[in-house]
Amino acid sequence: MLAGSLLISTVLFLEKFTYFTLLDDSPLGRQGDVSYEVSPGWKGQSTSSLSPPSVSTITTPTPVNYFEYVEQGNEAIDAFMENLARDDWILVESDEERKIWVKRRYDRNRDRTIYLSEAVLDIGHKEFFGIWRGFDENVPSWNPSVRKYVNVADVNDRCKIQYQVSAPQGGGFITSRDFLSVSCYRLVNGTYYAGYVSTTWPGYEPTNDYVRAKEYPSGFAFSEAPGEPGKCFMQWLTDVDMSFPAVVPKSILNTIIPLSLEEYIGHYQEYVKSLRLASGKTSNGDQAS
Ligand SMILES: *[C@@H]1O[C@H](CO)[C@@H](O)[C@H](O)[C@H]1NC(C)=O
Repeated sequence: MLAGSLLISTVLFLEKFTYFTLLDDSPLGRQGDVSYEVSPGWKGQSTSSLSPPSVSTITTPTPVNYFEYVEQGNEAIDAFMENLARDDWILVESDEERKIWVKRRYDRNRDRTIYLSEAVLDIGHKEFFGIWRGFDENVPSWNPSVRKYVNVADVNDRCKIQYQVSAPQGGGFITSRDFLSVSCYRLVNGTYYAGYVSTTWPGYEPTNDYVRAKEYPSGFAFSEAPGEPGKCFMQWLTDVDMSFPAVVPKSILNTIIPLSLEEYIGHYQEYVKSLRLASGKTSNGDQAS
């Protein structure tokens, strides 16, 4: 599995690398050499009408515009933080004992219902953010809601392209969807905000295998749990169009979606618990006796 993802990123890297290598040998590159030799003023020669290729001539055919992805990611963080801060979230599921809450808000302007799932995780938020950033194709081994998880490419040290396939939910009522997004993070006042939004990437076009979900700006926030030092308060805001068939009644979706979100975020808690067990620590940080 790990090798698969490495292979994909290596191929992507090689593609890009080969592209630019080719560029050097291409007519464009040679034209550059020519104009270098005869450019006005160079070694006293000033007779050529050839001008050096402009930067835009060279970069126009670039297959991937990284700056665009960073911009998309940053806009996603802004919109996510704005939605997160709203005060009209309505609690629809709660488990005080497990410390899991699911909230919903209706966006009148866009006629969309969006969700906010929250949980306390028994781990420091900085530590957990580090673990979250390192998620790879092993995610499905502890999160059965995820069927496939691929880190497609690093855009820069804060942004990456991700591809995921969800497992069927609601007892198979909701079939698998696939998601392709750019995800960037930002640290504000000690909280890590990771925003994501649907994007495109060469080789990851929608296929007939899955319905491609449309993700509007969404994200995760990791902060210290209020009143619980050393624990992480994780918030997950989802604004996604899963392209449900029009025949599915809203009342059924309004039941299934919060339950599957609760289940999803519960897997995070169980995963953290398994990490703790593996390191031999109890919840108060003492050695188990
Ligand atoms: C960060 O803290 C500053 C100063 O207290 C505050 O004005 C700002 O709203 C905070 N930002 C967020 C996103 O919480």
